[in-house]
Amino acid sequence: MEKKNTFYITTPIYYVNDAPHIGHAYTTIAADVLARYHRLKGDDVFFLTGTDEHGQKVSQAAEARRVSPQAHADELVGRYQSLWKGLGISNDDFIRTTEERHRQVVQSALQQLWDKGEIYEDSYQGWYCMPDERFWTEKDLVDGKCPDCGRNVEPLSERNYFFRMGKYQTQLQEHIRENHAFIRPETRRNEVLGFLEKPLGDLCISRPKRRLSWGIPLPFDPEYVTYVWFDALVNYISTPGFLRDPAAFQRWWPADLHLVGKDILTTHSVYWSTMLMGLGIPLPRGLFAHGWWTVNSEKMSKSLGNVVKPAEMIASFGVDPFRYFLLREVPFGQDGDFSKDALINRINSDLANDLGNLLSRTLTMVERYSEGRIPAPPTEDETEDDLVLKKKVEVLPKEMEEAIGNLEFQKGLTAIWQLVRQANRYIENAAPWILAKDPKQKKRLNAVLYNTAESVRIVSLFVAPFMPKTAIEMLRQLGFTDPEKEPDLEESVRWGRLPSGQAIAKGQSLFPRIKLKEANQTNADQKTPSSKKKKKLSPPQDMITYDEFSKLDLRVGFIQSAEKVPDAKKLLKLQVDIGTEIRQVVAGIATKYTPDGLLGKRVILVANLKPAKIRGVVSEGMLLAAGEKDVLEVATFLDKIPPGTKVR
Ligand code: ME8
Repeated sequence: MEKKNTFYITTPIYYVNDAPHIGHAYTTIAADVLARYHRLKGDDVFFLTGTDEHGQKVSQAAEARRVSPQAHADELVGRYQSLWKGLGISNDDFIRTTEERHRQVVQSALQQLWDKGEIYEDSYQGWYCMPDERFWTEKDLVDGKCPDCGRNVEPLSERNYFFRMGKYQTQLQEHIRENHAFIRPETRRNEVLGFLEKPLGDLCISRPKRRLSWGIPLPFDPEYVTYVWFDALVNYISTPGFLRDPAAFQRWWPADLHLVGKDILTTHSVYWSTMLMGLGIPLPRGLFAHGWWTVNSEKMSKSLGNVVKPAEMIASFGVDPFRYFLLREVPFGQDGDFSKDALINRINSDLANDLGNLLSRTLTMVERYSEGRIPAPPTEDETEDDLVLKKKVEVLPKEMEEAIGNLEFQKGLTAIWQLVRQANRYIENAAPWILAKDPKQKKRLNAVLYNTAESVRIVSLFVAPFMPKTAIEMLRQLGFTDPEKEPDLEESVRWGRLPSGQAIAKGQSLFPRIKLKEANQTNADQKTPSSKKKKKLSPPQDMITYDEFSKLDLRVGFIQSAEKVPDAKKLLKLQVDIGTEIRQVVAGIATKYTPDGLLGKRVILVANLKPAKIRGVVSEGMLLAAGEKDVLEVATFLDKIPPGTKVR
C-alpha cells in the first residue's frame, strides 16, 4: 500500500484561567480546517490541542475563586472541551499539562538537560513582570515598565535555574535564514530575526516553590517548580510520545505546523527552538503566527465587557457561519475587527444569497423539471457557458491546494465562491424555466440541470473543511445516502461523479437570511446634544413614520416562471426566487404582461406580506408596480442584482 503522508498540527494550549473566547476559537478553527483538508487529501493527520494548567495565571485565578488550582482547572477544561465539540473541532488528542503522561516527560526532559549541563544554577537579580511571568534586566525595561506589556515590574533577587539559551543564538539565526517557511508570515519571520540581532540571554526556567508552588517540580531540586513555558511547550512532544513511545514519536515528529497567535511568537520561535536544540531534537517544520481580533475596534477585555463568546455566536448564528466568517473576513496573518453587523452581512450575502440560493434553486429545478431525480449527464456539444463553468471546477483543486499551503484561507474561500457565483450566473444565462417550456429543449434542460447539480457537489467537497455540517447537508439534499463518508478527494473532484437518476432530498434552506437590526435608529429617536427633549411631532394624517415604513421587507425577486391563473383574466401566478427561497406570487398584471414577457425580470417583492389566497391560489407576497387601477409597469432592476437583496 502506498505510504500516506503524515500531517501533525498543533494549536497553543490555552490557559485555563478564564473561559474561551473568539481568539481561542479562531486559532482552533483555523487548525481544524487544515486538519480536515489534509484528511480529505488522504493524509494521516494528528491534530493536537489542549490546556495549559500550571503557572501563576492559573494559580491566581483559582485563588480568586477560593478553589484549588486543580479543581479550578478541572472545571474550566470542560468549557474548552465542550466549545470545541460545539465548533466541530476534529482534534485527535487533547493534552492537559496536569496529566501524568505530560508531567513525566517534562521531568525527564529537564533531567536530560541538567545531566548534559544545559541547565545551571545561578543567582538572579533584576525585575519581574508578574502578569507575564517574565524576568527582565534593568536595560530591558521601557520607562521602568515591562517592555512587552507596559505594566509595572517588581525588583527580584533569588537563586534560580537557567537554560543555556544564549549559546544557540547563531544556530537559530542560521536555521531561520535557511528555512524560509520556518516562521510565517514573512513579517513575523523578520521580527524574530530582528529580535535575534540583540544578544540572546539565558532563560530562567525555575520558580521557587515558596513563591509559586503550582507547577511541575524540578527533578533535581524539589524546592523549585519549572517555569510555565518550559512545561507548556513540551506538550508538543510529550503528547505524540517523546520518551514514552519512540515509534509514535518518530511517526509524528517533527510537527508540520505550530499555529499560534502573534502574542506568543517569541516563546515559540526562540524558547521552543532552543529547547529542542538543547534536547537534540529536530525543530518543527513550521510556525505560523496569525493576527489579533479586536471587537468593534476595541481591544477585547472583561472590563470593557466586550468579550465575544463563541458559544453565543453559535447559538445566534450557527457554527458554520461563524467558522466561515472568521476565516473569510480577514486575511490570515493580519489583525481583524469583529462586529455582529459584519458577521450578519457575510451570512446574508455569501451564505444565504450565494451558496444557499445556489443549492435551493438547483434542487427546485430538479424537482420541477426532472421529477426530483438527477438527469443523465450531457452527451451533446458543450456551450460556451458550460465550458466556463467546467473550467472553474477544473482550476479549483489547484487554487485550494495553493491557498491552504500558504494558509490563505480567505483566498481559498474566494476561489470556491467564484465557482458558486459562476454556477448562479450559469443558471440565469441558461434560463431553465424557459427551456422547460419547449419539449425540443429537453436535452439542453437536462444538461443544464446536471451541470449545475454537479457543480454544487464539487463545491460541497471544498466547503467541507471550512463548514463541515453544511457540506454534509448539501450532499444529503443532493440525494447521497451516506453524506458523512469521508470522500477520496482525488477521485471525487472528477467531473461527472454525480450519479444520474439519484433522487434528491430537498430540505430546508441552508442559511436563513438574518435581519440586520437597524443600528441607527430613526432621526426622531436620536438624542440631541442638548438635554432638552424635542416636542414629539404627531404625523399628519396619511403620513407614516419611518418605523412604520421600515416594517416593510422589500426584496429583489427573480421571476423564474409565470403562468395564467385559470378563469382569472387579470391574474398571473409567478414563482419568484428571493435568494433563500422561491415564493409563489399571484399578481394582477395579466392585462399588461404575458407570462413569457416576465421571465428573468428582477422585481421588487414585499416579502413580509401575510400569505393570502387569491382565487383559491396561495400568494406569498406582492410585486411593486406603477399604476392605480390598471398596472402600467412592474418596478424592475436592469442590473443583475442578486435575488434577495434588500430594497430600501
Ligand atoms: O498564551 N485574537 O495561552 P492563552 C486572536 N498558554 N487570537 C487570540 C486572541 C485574539 N484577541 N486572544 C487569544 C497562552 N488568542 C499559553 C500558550 S502554548 C505552548 C502555551 C489565541 O490562553 C491565540 O492563538 O493566552 C493566542 O496565541 C492564544 O489564544 C493565547 O492563548
